[in-house]
Amino acid sequence: MSYNIAIDGPAGAGKSTIAKRVSAELSFIYVDTGAMYRAIALYLLKNAIQPEDLDSVKYALGEIEIAIRYVGGEQHVLLNGEDVSGQIRTEEVGNMASKSSALPCVREKLLELQQKLARENDVVMDGRDIGTNILPDAQLKIYLTASVDTRANRRYKELLEKGTDCDLEEIKKDIEQRDYQDMHREVAPLRQAADAVYLDSSDLTIDQVVEKIKSLAK
Ligand code: C5P
Repeated sequence: MSYNIAIDGPAGAGKSTIAKRVSAELSFIYVDTGAMYRAIALYLLKNAIQPEDLDSVKYALGEIEIAIRYVGGEQHVLLNGEDVSGQIRTEEVGNMASKSSALPCVREKLLELQQKLARENDVVMDGRDIGTNILPDAQLKIYLTASVDTRANRRYKELLEKGTDCDLEEIKKDIEQRDYQDMHREVAPLRQAADAVYLDSSDLTIDQVVEKIKSLAK
């Protein structure tokens, strides 16, 4: 049987950094489910489809094929065969993903792919509803969070390092809005699973969080 670690939490809590490290150190694969929602969002943006236009979204989903490939241990997302891993990392795509991921038809589209990856591999899977919905039987569940200020500061620094022009207050507003949307949607809202371990990373280093999760897994 495969060993599954589910990591859920709000935007900018450090889930992907932590999940990547933990999976590498345990020789598990890392599954970034946010990237799959972002790939669908990218398709909607490119085709000027509004998430409110449900008929068009449903039609689009029939035209979309999402696949995952690992290159040198890194997850790449393919949208109809095209590697869109770079294109999905913008705030615009993140905000669209937050809106479109609230639609049941969008979540339905990705459920099977995510569950199959976890059935066939030892995984560290991160997202919003992994412990609550996708992998309710995961052997270890983590709810990873940090204060809004900490998360906004981290994202601000990340964007500056990439050379992207950005505004701290705007990032904070975006994060608050995304938290609200993710926590208050009707289907699979972001919340801590009853059996998840709560970890606030505001005052912890990456190493400390990684060690904590590894020791819980053991
Ligand atoms: O984690 P990331 O910022 O890449 O996710 C983008 C958006 O995709 C989130 O704001 C959330 O709305 C959605 N998402 C989700 N369920 C997941 C992963 C991501 O609804 N399992």
